[in-house]
Amino acid sequence: MNIHLTKSQIGLDGVPAAETVLSHVDGDRGALIIAGEHVGRLAAVSSFEGVTARLWNGASKTTLTEANVRASLGAARERAFARLPDLLAATRGMGIVDGFRAAAAGLRAEPGLENEATIVGAFPVIAGALVRRAKGLEPVAPDPDVSHAADTLHMLHGRVPETREIAALDAYLVTASDHGMNASTFTARVVASTQADLFAAVTAGYCALTGPLHGGAPEPVLEMLDAIGSRERIQPWVDAALARGERMMGFGHRVYRVRDPRADVLDAAIEALASDGADLPFAGEVEAYIRAALRRKNPDRPIETNVEFFTAILLDALAIPRQAFTPIFAVARSAGWTAHAREQQRTGRLIRPSSSYVGAMPEG
Ligand code: ACO
Repeated sequence: MNIHLTKSQIGLDGVPAAETVLSHVDGDRGALIIAGEHVGRLAAVSSFEGVTARLWNGASKTTLTEANVRASLGAARERAFARLPDLLAATRGMGIVDGFRAAAAGLRAEPGLENEATIVGAFPVIAGALVRRAKGLEPVAPDPDVSHAADTLHMLHGRVPETREIAALDAYLVTASDHGMNASTFTARVVASTQADLFAAVTAGYCALTGPLHGGAPEPVLEMLDAIGSRERIQPWVDAALARGERMMGFGHRVYRVRDPRADVLDAAIEALASDGADLPFAGEVEAYIRAALRRKNPDRPIETNVEFFTAILLDALAIPRQAFTPIFAVARSAGWTAHAREQQRTGRLIRPSSSYVGAMPEG
């Protein structure tokens, strides 16, 4: 007999699929704990290298320090730059999001070196080169002696970044480094559960990230702000879009029923960064109106601002082109993907769920 599943069952809502020491999302309380610390505190006290050390230590029972990770990522950025011609060869004719997928798929194990660092170190090198190629510019060589956030901005823009810019990107990288069993992390863990290597797992994770219901949302957030255009148009534009059944990009979450704690961290980072660039009051008015409109439309289902709304504003204020937002998300999330894939290989079991067959049965 055919058994139809509920919407929640189809989306695996609330189904635990792994035991992890890496991160915990409490959607009712609006809390995110990464490797034993609240995300807000981590963003205040730790660099991206620091949170990466915590994640890798959790996954592999190592005792890496922030300094160890900083050194290994600096060296890995240099190795990736040396391989750039090979990596970019597969990306000819592609845009930034697709080109990043093809180049990431070209990464491979290097004898005697940690795969985790090879992957995480390579990502900003690839992103920087693709962004510059799109502008007709040559790639900028990495500087292994500066932080991952500083070098990411340097390779994107071809200039030494300001301290406030580095701080803003670092806060973003920490905030987006890991987030429980989100779709891309789950994908990476499914691949790793077959004992495929970290390169396969992380490439698959990136593919899952690119969709607009996950990491592909920030670009549409800016498109939405552009389409609204002015204060007078907020109400008519939003009301008409909701009446057509459209989704507001940067709002809603499968797990959070209150405000995403990462939104507050990024909001603060934007405030600290913005002396020019982003039109924050306008974005704030759009946010407030959409939250109220969604409350009116779905009084029983809280739909709050998610991390992607603020990601869009932050990355835009850092002059990162919107087509590169998903690869920059991957620069951050690669820390989590590599840790989850390693943890899955070490402690997990082949992930092999079942399906409910609702098709035709053979006669007789
Ligand atoms: N705008 C308008 N309505 C929404 C939105 C939204 N952003 N999000 C949910 N809803 C409505 C749905 O239309 C649906 O209403 P219905 O039952 O009348 O059809 C109801 O809320 C429930 O929607 P679901 O799709 O079941 O909720 P789900 O948990 O799957 O949604 C998701 C999560 C996919 C993120 C959704 O909120 C969405 O599409 N948001 C817009 C895209 C976005 O911001 N993505 C980034 C997510 S954060 C991240 O991945 C890092």
